[in-house]
Amino acid sequence: MQKRFINKTAWVSGAAQGIGRSIAEFFAEEGANVAVIDIKEKEGKQTVECIKSKGGAAVFFFCDLNVEALIQKSITDTVAAFGGLHIIVNNGAINMVKSLHEYSTEEWDRQLNINLKAIFLSFKYAYPYLKKNTASSIVNIGSVSSFVGQAKTPGYIAAKGAVMMLTKSIAIDYASEGIRCNTVCPGITNTPMLRQHTGSELEITERLHRVPIGRILQPREIASSVAYLCSDDASGITGTSLIIDGGYLATAEWDGGLS
Ligand SMILES: NC(=O)c1ccc[n+]([C@@H]2O[C@H](COP(=O)([O-])OP(=O)(O)OC[C@H]3O[C@@H](n4cnc5c(N)ncnc54)[C@H](O)[C@@H]3O)[C@@H](O)[C@H]2O)c1
Repeated sequence: MQKRFINKTAWVSGAAQGIGRSIAEFFAEEGANVAVIDIKEKEGKQTVECIKSKGGAAVFFFCDLNVEALIQKSITDTVAAFGGLHIIVNNGAINMVKSLHEYSTEEWDRQLNINLKAIFLSFKYAYPYLKKNTASSIVNIGSVSSFVGQAKTPGYIAAKGAVMMLTKSIAIDYASEGIRCNTVCPGITNTPMLRQHTGSELEITERLHRVPIGRILQPREIASSVAYLCSDDASGITGTSLIIDGGYLATAEWDGGLS
């Protein structure tokens, strides 16, 4: 395996499980020090133990992405632990499944705070450290929902669309300081969120009828692209959106024309 992140430190939110955990493990395998950021302490510490058991370096920091002071603290704790900060991956998110009129104001704020505002805040507090490096990189995790709608997830959809545009804005404004910023947009990926969101295996099977490659994606297939975008291999790429969806967005047909 390549070691593209020796002497680099990566802050990865939502790294206790699912795609975030895979991203944290991938960075560690390539030599990065990894700050595992999450509210799930037990699972976050398991991510850290898994990384350490393979010879990697990682620390868990409890952080609720809905709380500005905790985001700030997690950034300063990361720098204190590893001596710098080079990579930010805004992956942590929630998905409230309900129609818009059913949202309370508090639920709307929570949905948007965690999925969108936390990106602003991680940037705000990481920026003083990121700009010290000759090259720093941010990846924000969007979704196929950054491009198309989905039933009964208005807050999630609104946030994921905005994530892609905020990414472009950061890319434009900070390129001259050596900070790149890109979005990675997963399709149907095998994680606890998918299971929680869709409910049954039957529903997942039905959804996969619309995916040309005909199978669920694995978190590592997302993680490898996040690592690529943060590496020097992608030194010319900023402000882009990399869709990893098995072809889902390539077709407008209900069943992908596959059956
Ligand atoms: N799984 C999919 O099919 C899919 C598809 C498209 C996009 N995505 C995106 O990929 C990313 C990861 O999703 P996943 O499927 O691995 O989800 P997941 O629910 O399995 O994992 C999300 C992680 O974020 C953490 N988190 C949630 N709220 C938090 C908070 N307030 N503070 C700190 N951490 C918090 C959770 O504890 C969890 O560890 C998300 O941005 C999601 O929107 C997933």
